Amino acid sequence: MLTRVLNPDDPLHMETILDCLAAGGLAALPTETVYGLAGDATNGVACARIFEAKGRPSFNPLIAHVADLGMARTIAVFSPLAERLAAAFWPGPLTLVLQAAPGSAVHPLATVGLPTIAVRMPDGAARAIVSRFGRPLAAPSANRSGRVSPTSAEDVLRTLDGRIDLVLDGGRCPVGLESTIVKVEDDAVTLLRPGGVTPDAIEAAIGVSVRYGAGTAIEAPGQMHSHYAPAGRVRLEVTAVHAGEHLIAFGAELPIGSEHAAAIINLSRNGDLREAAANLFRVLAAFDRPEIERIAVMPIPRTGLGLAINDRLSRAAAPR
Ligand code: TXA
Ligand code: MG
Repeated sequence: MLTRVLNPDDPLHMETILDCLAAGGLAALPTETVYGLAGDATNGVACARIFEAKGRPSFNPLIAHVADLGMARTIAVFSPLAERLAAAFWPGPLTLVLQAAPGSAVHPLATVGLPTIAVRMPDGAARAIVSRFGRPLAAPSANRSGRVSPTSAEDVLRTLDGRIDLVLDGGRCPVGLESTIVKVEDDAVTLLRPGGVTPDAIEAAIGVSVRYGAGTAIEAPGQMHSHYAPAGRVRLEVTAVHAGEHLIAFGAELPIGSEHAAAIINLSRNGDLREAAANLFRVLAAFDRPEIERIAVMPIPRTGLGLAINDRLSRAAAPR
């Protein structure tokens, strides 16, 4: 299969994407978080192709992307609390895990037969496409399973070239980390995956405290194992660089031994977590080369977006 790269400003290309999706094909689309590998969530063949193209374990459910609340309510049951979360953060990097609506058109392959469904209203080109398509799109991050998530069309092609029909090149994703996933039950909001919306922002918006915890492991299986992994080994919380390591820096002050690093890329010289989040996957991708064997990462504060950054880094460093 030849993977075509398309331009969002070309109206003909928009038609090409809609035709591809209607035929059960796969298109990688830019969202505000990362590029998603999109297929018709109501089409079992399209959903099966997503798992196949990614090499994704078939027990790991997909997020359904919607264009508006009307579409969201056809696939999930919105409690008053869920409505408030959607009103506060959509479109944007928050995914809600809700009870699936009776008669939902989403194919059971996408939800892997669970009674719940993960729903997200993305920002940008992806939302416009879901809106024109008129049905929800299933879209995991557009990378081979376990690899670094893509924040550019070029990153998508690194692991999926020849495995998918199209990539829409919308430039770099502004948030750079996947959506925050929360499960909403009765009056409780439980964090399943930290991401582009911080727990503090959720608490401030709805006045309900976010639960953390062991639930995460069971609820989001794909989140447990080695993930986001570059080819080389990743060492975290580095305060002294070993000679020859590739250093991922944060802030103005470099650790001792930095002069012996093979290369240094700074996530944010000013120590700005938003900038660091936006750069994280691009930097991991830049150091994801067979000849790079050792990557060292400086400590990054575990506050705000630092929570999601440290989550991704610890999976990148996890035993394989
Ligand atoms: O920002 C994002 O969320 C990106 C863009 C493309 O929208 N998408 C994304 O999808 O990160 P993916 O498939 O890489 O991650 C989705 C996560 C998986 O870890 C999966 O286990 C979890 O969502 N998930 C999906 N449905 C679930 C459910 N019903 N209950 C619990 N977790 C669920
Ligand atoms: Mg992913």
